[in-house]
Amino acid sequence: MKVLILYGTVEGHTGKIANFVTDQVREAGHEVALVDTDDVAQISFEGVDAVILAASVHQRRHPKNFEASVSAHREDLRARKTLMLSVSLNAAFPEGLEEAGEYLTEMKMRTNFTPDHEMLVAGAVRTGHYDYFAMQVVRHVVLRGRDVDPEAGEHEFTDWDAVGAQVGAFLETTG
Ligand SMILES: Cc1cc2nc3c(=O)[nH]c(=O)nc-3n(C[C@H](O)[C@H](O)[C@H](O)COP(=O)(O)O)c2cc1C
Repeated sequence: MKVLILYGTVEGHTGKIANFVTDQVREAGHEVALVDTDDVAQISFEGVDAVILAASVHQRRHPKNFEASVSAHREDLRARKTLMLSVSLNAAFPEGLEEAGEYLTEMKMRTNFTPDHEMLVAGAVRTGHYDYFAMQVVRHVVLRGRDVDPEAGEHEFTDWDAVGAQVGAFLETTG
């Protein structure tokens, strides 16, 4: 089977997740096409059987180019099995899961596309990638009231085993 992995990232963590998933899909014996929605104007769905979408959330939204690609290709996506990984910091906290779910609901409304399967994935604090504004947003909005100091250094909240299990289950239902 051929799997297209379509991702949107701002500080790079979702790129790391997309590469992790690429390795897993390849190791499972499938062909993979990995596409960053910032890099391409045209996305080919030729021969593609399943699509894994992955994108991070900034100020409640997935990257503009990512959501634009999903909207533009919603018929191509609807014709295939799809899994969406929505990466955010709220997904790292039990009390943040409801809000993390809202990001996905809002994306579905904006793009008019609903994936077959979805997962809220805990992202990462990437201190070295933040300008002053980003640092303020992460500290005073996203992590407000939480015992995490983004200036203390980088931290990955992603549960890689859980991502691997979700992708494995998706490949099984699809393949
Ligand atoms: C400026 C900024 C705004 C963010 N806004 C949100 C947000 O609204 N909700 C949330 O849960 N996480 C938010 N995050 C956290 C990111 O989703 C998280 O760091 C994710 O891992 C980023 O992935 P990326 O490196 O692939 O872009 C924000 C991060 C930054 C830097």
